[in-house]
Amino acid sequence: MREELQRALTLTDQRPLRVTSLACGPAAEVFDILLHNHDLAAQVRFTLVDVDQQALEFVRERLIREGLESVVRLERRNLLHLCIGRQPLELEPQHLIYSIGLIDYFDDRIVTRLQTWMRGCLAPGGRSILGNFHTSNPTRGLMDHLLDWRLIHRDEGDMVRWRRRLVSHLGPHGVGLKRRE
Ligand SMILES: C[S@@+](CC[C@H](N)C(=O)[O-])C[C@H]1O[C@@H](n2cnc3c(N)ncnc32)[C@H](O)[C@@H]1O
Repeated sequence: MREELQRALTLTDQRPLRVTSLACGPAAEVFDILLHNHDLAAQVRFTLVDVDQQALEFVRERLIREGLESVVRLERRNLLHLCIGRQPLELEPQHLIYSIGLIDYFDDRIVTRLQTWMRGCLAPGGRSILGNFHTSNPTRGLMDHLLDWRLIHRDEGDMVRWRRRLVSHLGPHGVGLKRRE
């Protein structure tokens, strides 16, 4: 995420950089940046969205402990409702909007709606990122059978097919694919 923020800073002169994390959970990567990358943190304002009040409370308490409440906005929303227009979220156009650990729960149709909504939230030149577990996930068996934690794993082929669908919805502009280990 640090790399993505640094890249986003090179794509606009506007400061602060407006960044939104969807389904933020405990927002570990946000704290990592705010606490350990002060130059970067000074240039970014985060909005964190999650449906789970407890997750948001956890983040709020940690923000207060660290004296960081003023640089992070928390919003409780259901992304399924947001992306079909059933709930509003006032958001200035964002330079970066991302979600890690969410779309593995959603089928392609919902992901396409989410991506369309995310794109509508972007500032000109802004970027959106969606992370998905890869089919080669070595802990998949454990997650499926022992933890009964069943996610939709996707490989490059799935993502390319999904990208084609996105391109037909959104047009060819800037839809990319990157594998992270
Ligand atoms: C696996 S956690 C990922 C958290 C974090 N992004 C991370 O990578 O550590 C999934 C998060 O998605 C949130 N979530 C699930 N469905 C959601 C929805 N429909 N709208 C908003 N948040 C949702 C959950 O509350 C949870 O915090």
